[in-house]
Amino acid sequence: PQSTPLTGKRVTITAGPTQEAIDPVRYISNYSSGKMGYALARAARNAGADVTLISGPVSLATPQGCQRIDVKSARQMHQTALEVATRSDIFIACAAVADYRVGDIAEQKIKKSNEQMQLTLVRNPDIVAAVASLAQRPFVVGFAAETQDVARYAKDKMQRKHLDMIAANNVASPDSGFNVDENALQVFWADGEKTLPRASKQQLADQLIKLITTQYQHETN
Ligand code: PMT
Repeated sequence: PQSTPLTGKRVTITAGPTQEAIDPVRYISNYSSGKMGYALARAARNAGADVTLISGPVSLATPQGCQRIDVKSARQMHQTALEVATRSDIFIACAAVADYRVGDIAEQKIKKSNEQMQLTLVRNPDIVAAVASLAQRPFVVGFAAETQDVARYAKDKMQRKHLDMIAANNVASPDSGFNVDENALQVFWADGEKTLPRASKQQLADQLIKLITTQYQHETN
C-alpha cells in the first residue's frame, strides 16, 4: 500500500519562471520549464497532501489531483503566494522568480530607434522570504540555483531568508537544473544535510518530499 504521511496537510508549491513585461509584446524571463516544481506537486500529492501549485507560464499538464493557480509576473506570484501560504502547512519555493522587473512597462510596443537603448529594472519582492516572515508561517523550503560555491551560497540563502530547508542545484551544468529531465540536489537544514545524486526530477522530488516530511514532523512534534 502507498504510504500517505502528508494526509490532511496542505502543501503549496511555486513552479516555473515568471514573465516580466517590457511592453505589450515583450518580456524578460528565464529557462525554467516547471518540471521540478510539477514533479514535487505529484510527489506531495502521492504522499497524501492537498496540493496547490502556483505556476508561472509553462507548457505542462496539471498533475492529477492538484489545484493550480496560474500567474505571470513575480508580483502576481507574490500576492497569490501570500494568500495561499497563510493556510498552508508546508510551502516549497521551486519557481525561478525574476529578481528584477521593468520599472516602467511601455503601454505601446516600443519602436526601434537608436543603436542602444536602456531598460531600468527594479527589484521584485522576495516571495519565499515574505512567506517565511509571516506570523503564522508554514514549514518553508527554498531552492537555490547556483553556478558556483553551491553549498556556501545555499546555506547563506537559507539563513538570510529564514528558511527551514533549502535544496540547492548547480545550474551551470547543461544536463541538470533548468529545462531538462534530470537534476541533482544538495539539501540543507539547520542541523543536517543530504546529497541526492543525479536522477530524474520525479525521483528527486519523491526523495525530497520524504526529507521534507521527516523534518516537518520533527519540527512540529
Ligand atoms: O523548472 P525546471 O526547468 O524544472 O528547473 C528547475 C529549477 C532549476 C528552476 C529549480 O530546481 C530551481 O532551482 N528553482 C529555484 C530557482 C531560483 O530562482 O533560485 P534562486 O537561487 O534565484 O532563488 C532562491 C530561492 O528564492 C528560490 O526558492 C526562489 O523560488 C526564491 N525566490 C527568489 C526570488 C524572488 N523574488 N522570490 C523568491 O521567492
